[in-house]
Amino acid sequence: MGDLVVGIDVGTTKVAAIVGEVRADDVYVVGVGVEPSRGMKRGVVTDIAQLSQAIGAAVHKAERSSGYDISRAFVSLAGSQVKSTSSRGTVGLVPNRGIRAEDMEKALDSARTIAVPHTHEIVAVIPRSFAIDDHSIRSPLGMFGFRLDVEVCVITTLSTVVSNLEQAVRAAGIYPDRFILNALAAGDCVLTETERDMGVVVIDIGGGTSDLAIYCEGVPWFVSVVPIGGDLITNDITHLVHVPFEVAEAVKLQHGHAVEREVSETDTFVVQPFGEGIPTEFHRRELAMVIEERTKELFDHVRKEIKHSGLDDVLRAGAVITGGGSQLPGIKEIAARSLDCPVRLARPDRVTGMADSLRTPAYSTSIGLLRLGLQLDSVGVQPAAQNGNGRSGGFGGLFGGFFRRFLPGDDD
Ligand SMILES: Nc1ncnc2c1ncn2[C@@H]1O[C@H](COP(=O)(O)OP(=O)(O)OP(=O)(O)O)[C@@H](O)[C@H]1O
Ligand SMILES: [Mg+2]
Repeated sequence: MGDLVVGIDVGTTKVAAIVGEVRADDVYVVGVGVEPSRGMKRGVVTDIAQLSQAIGAAVHKAERSSGYDISRAFVSLAGSQVKSTSSRGTVGLVPNRGIRAEDMEKALDSARTIAVPHTHEIVAVIPRSFAIDDHSIRSPLGMFGFRLDVEVCVITTLSTVVSNLEQAVRAAGIYPDRFILNALAAGDCVLTETERDMGVVVIDIGGGTSDLAIYCEGVPWFVSVVPIGGDLITNDITHLVHVPFEVAEAVKLQHGHAVEREVSETDTFVVQPFGEGIPTEFHRRELAMVIEERTKELFDHVRKEIKHSGLDDVLRAGAVITGGGSQLPGIKEIAARSLDCPVRLARPDRVTGMADSLRTPAYSTSIGLLRLGLQLDSVGVQPAAQNGNGRSGGFGGLFGGFFRRFLPGDDD
């Protein structure tokens, strides 16, 4: 891709295409195109033609704003079918020869050989730690030994989820260079090194889904997707006040709060419900009650996923929430209560270029795509052009950003 990186965050609410120039190992944003999403529900494609149009429109805007033609991009991947599991790979070493990158690749390859249902496929293999002859090693390259072991996090999803997304992206005239999981892109964007080392869960609360990733010892250990996002809250509001989705969305943004008792009993708002069309007054507290209930349900799911991961004891840095849905007033309090840990609300801070409009939590994944994509490509170890399914685009995570940690001289 040369000096240019493009990320297309294909969300349920919006499609964001972001063009970045690579400058001094970082990304400088030179163009942005955002378009309301169509043809996606809960992180999966429901209408390829509609989604492809939305992607095309976002790309077109990004082309106009950057002055570049876009033909390929890193693409975000979500969907509630995303699962992670642990695996271990082993490779025998050539005596009297230092370990090479290809030995590490072989060890990772052997870790990929896990039983995956034929309906699913591996989307990332992320190394957690290496050991030579049972001794844990920070950076195996160049070292001597008889056997190299690697512990990995293998991430899988339903194959059709990726195929449909690939179709939609290709139909918009874009070649998907890599698919990168939402939660990993968001984690790369908003987490600090200290948080990643200490143990943290990042939760990207979008419109259709909430994507979470648990990091510890610097790398992702677990990812999962909860099928509850901001849209479900808006949907609840349509039932409460009997208005179309768009009006309920405006009510949420203007009057919504996630903590019922924080809202004054006397606060009211007026909307014009379906039917008679007579303006009706509602109590903000009633609205907050509905929002609080759904928000609690969301974090109950997240808590269960964390428990299920077996990593609930390692989250010493607590939780970091981001994504458009994290901007709901009071959500931090509900998250802290449900998860019983400190919670930080994060947005992309370290963005340079024409990025003012991107410094909000809704763009953490979009910015992370550029950064992580860039890292994945910059270590000189390319993913296979074809995976087992014959898919053209690569999947982030086999090497690159997560692999770099194990290369000499990287003190992350
Ligand atoms: N200020 C706000 N207060 C509350 N909710 C908000 C606010 N701003 C945006 N949202 C909600 O954030 C959601 C959209 O978030 P985001 O843009 O991250 O989603 P997405 O990436 O398109 O979706 P997904 O990642 O789930 O596919 C919507 O439900 C919207 O109502
Ligand atoms: Mg999103």
